[in-house]
Amino acid sequence: MRVREGLTELEVPEGGVFFNPRMKLNRDVTCAVVRALGRLDFLDLLAASGAKGIRVARECGSRVHLNDVNPRAVEVIRRNAELNGVEVSVSCCEANLLLTSVRGCFNFIDVDPFGAPVRFTANAVAALPSRGYLGVTATDTAALCGVYPKACLRKYGAVSFRGELCKEAGLRILLGFLALECARYGRGMRVLLSHATDHYFRALVEVRSGRRRADDSLEQLGMLVFCPACGYRGAGERANERCRCGGELQVAGRLWLGRIAEPELVRRALAEAEYLEDRRVARLLATLAEEAEVEVPYFYDLHHIGRRRGTGSLRKVERVVEGLREMGYRASRTHVSPTGVRTDAGYEVVEELAAG
Ligand SMILES: C[S@@+](CC[C@H](N)C(=O)[O-])C[C@H]1O[C@@H](n2cnc3c(N)ncnc32)[C@H](O)[C@@H]1O
Ligand SMILES: [Zn+2]
Repeated sequence: MRVREGLTELEVPEGGVFFNPRMKLNRDVTCAVVRALGRLDFLDLLAASGAKGIRVARECGSRVHLNDVNPRAVEVIRRNAELNGVEVSVSCCEANLLLTSVRGCFNFIDVDPFGAPVRFTANAVAALPSRGYLGVTATDTAALCGVYPKACLRKYGAVSFRGELCKEAGLRILLGFLALECARYGRGMRVLLSHATDHYFRALVEVRSGRRRADDSLEQLGMLVFCPACGYRGAGERANERCRCGGELQVAGRLWLGRIAEPELVRRALAEAEYLEDRRVARLLATLAEEAEVEVPYFYDLHHIGRRRGTGSLRKVERVVEGLREMGYRASRTHVSPTGVRTDAGYEVVEELAAG
């Protein structure tokens, strides 16, 4: 079957080699970011049909190497490269073996596995030069969003949330895990852009050598607390405390409490994404740029506030954001939920504004 994504034609097999059309947004955003970063040496570590790597070669002008352990995937990658007239290199290796033999060769490594990326991230970090970029996809949302808490603890070493903040915590658990992986190799991490979309999480981070940078990144780790009884939420290290309402606080972490995106880079990516003519990509990037500036590691979901109050209808997100800003708070929408408000205001303030 032939599909078109961005400026790229892709021949995707009906069976045997993986292709997920719902990951187009993931590939679109990656292309926009790579264009914003300039020409790179890009490794598509787990390439399948080559959809992402071929697009990066065709649409971003980067030098690309694609790899997959499945020989049938490698055939499909070669055909797709030819179809688009791009010169790429291709290999058929086990990913971790490849990573140990290409140290310093690629300044962008993309890790896009089935499920959790945790088996590949350490070697990917170690393979980067002293300054490089890592793109990581996680589709094991059931583990990251609290459905399988033990799986999250095993894979990411963190306690997850269920409910209102499960996606926020899931994204930050992935980011926190990556920061720890970097720190093990004496490297610091800066989140360029990350998002929780559909049924996956995506992180694009900059990795730089230096013990000071590693220490600084670890300073961004901590816990999120949430009270299901009254809706209170906060960040910090306040495990084992009770909520002011007397309810029991739930605690998630350790996770990344720092920025989930660099607004300046996201705006550049937004400009670069124009050629895609895709409103969903533009909306995601615009929202991300705004919410990253608020720098609060949680949001309030008006839908849940309504439920807690026992009244369904509340004011619109835009009105609440506006009202909070007028009161001097930082506030924005969040890409994580269409009814979410990211703000440094407290629960009661948001509730009062939302109720009108
Ligand atoms: C989710 S798919 C990649 C999708 C692709 N990036 C895209 O955008 O369409 C994961 C791929 O990883 C390959 N794979 C799984 N384990 C691997 C390993 N240990 N080494 C190399 N490739 C592996 C599979 O053959 C599969 O094609
Ligand atoms: Zn409470």
